[in-house]
Amino acid sequence: MRMVVLGLGYLGATHAACMAELGHDVLGVEIVPEKRAQLAAGEVPFYEPGLPELLKRHIDSGRLTVSGSYAEAADFADIFFIAVGTPQKKGEYSADLQYVDAAIEELVPLLTRDAIILGKSTVPVGTAQRLSERADELAKDVDVEIAWNPEFLREGFAVQDTLHPDRLVLGMFAGGASETACREIYGPILDEGTPLIVTDPPTAELVKTSANAFLATKISFINAIAEVCDAAGADVKSIADAIGFDARIGRKFLNAGLGFGGGCLPKDIRAFMARAGELGAAEALSFLREVDNVNMRRRTRMVELTREVCGGSLLGKRIAILGSAFKPESDDVRDSPALNVAGQIQLQGASVTVYDPKAMDNSRKLFPTLDYAITAFDACEKADVVLVLTEWREFLALDPIELGEQVRQRIVVDGRMCLDPARWSDAGWQYRV
Ligand code: UDX
Repeated sequence: MRMVVLGLGYLGATHAACMAELGHDVLGVEIVPEKRAQLAAGEVPFYEPGLPELLKRHIDSGRLTVSGSYAEAADFADIFFIAVGTPQKKGEYSADLQYVDAAIEELVPLLTRDAIILGKSTVPVGTAQRLSERADELAKDVDVEIAWNPEFLREGFAVQDTLHPDRLVLGMFAGGASETACREIYGPILDEGTPLIVTDPPTAELVKTSANAFLATKISFINAIAEVCDAAGADVKSIADAIGFDARIGRKFLNAGLGFGGGCLPKDIRAFMARAGELGAAEALSFLREVDNVNMRRRTRMVELTREVCGGSLLGKRIAILGSAFKPESDDVRDSPALNVAGQIQLQGASVTVYDPKAMDNSRKLFPTLDYAITAFDACEKADVVLVLTEWREFLALDPIELGEQVRQRIVVDGRMCLDPARWSDAGWQYRV
């Protein structure tokens, strides 16, 4: 099948390459010229395991092409995916829909044949309805169907999650043709037995926001328990293991520590709260404010703990920060808890040196005043405290004996509860979580 993917960021670039992998002819539209040039040359402008190989293969095979032209897109196919960003509005909780709106405004007047537009971006409930009404106004003697087909991919596993998802969800208006189209588009995935849930657009929009809100709640739940454990002298990791055996609870997403960040969970729970408020259902989601509060407290607590192990003041201390990406296997630093902590510690007078296996360039752009080292070892030179804030495998494999020679004081704060405490204590380190 021929199809267009509008927006080639994390979501769009992955979706476009994966659709080509499924055998489709795909045109990806990206309006930022630098990104477009990189992608057209088969290079991925961010770190995502497995994606560069897939993209290169399909750029070379000609099954995936990249363009900056909506006119070309309108001519290319009758199926369009919207995969543009929906960031948090500046100074507000709600989602900024300007890129989604722009995609419809630019594309629909150019359509000369009937078309199906499938939204993949995470949007507030009611967006598909609004866009559908607008598309009807903009369409020139053609029928434009809008449906929502949300994406649940995780960074670091984006290719795997797109090609082998847990489920596919389609929210379509009655009488539409998008179910037939989706069954064909996702044929190989459905053949693997993947469930396809067909529903209406508001439900599909809410499936996505509910999934992210639940994941965020699960993380903040265990972090709230961690606060009680701190006070009671109990071990939150053992609690997570023990309750996680209950199949109704499950062990996944119960890792306590520095909490969640990234380009999705934080902004999505805020946009969800904002939308619920607009709909007059704010009370139903008021607990999400507490989910957000627990999460943000983890960052403050990490700064306080670092100050405490430094003897009450960060002034003039050297702090090594290992990990700046919001999670391992990603170079994404959007709302990164690690960088947030690094910035706060620096503002309290410490000298902070950061190392991350993949996120150095992005970190430098966001926080140019921090110091950056080219290895974990270099970052720890003469450090008073070492903070491990992203659980990269590389840090789990560090030799505490060797690293002990490098630092001024053997104090490690394990912000992700990912190190082996006995190994570090045996090597003479004060181990804190
Ligand atoms: C998330 C959702 O998982 C995905 O389904 C959705 O499509 C987009 O948002 P992602 O942002 O890639 O994906 O990251 P995720 O793996 O969910 O982790 C989010 C954050 O939670 C990270 O900062 C991670 O470190 C943190 N986290 C995760 C915890 O603090 N504890 C956990 O147990 C799990």
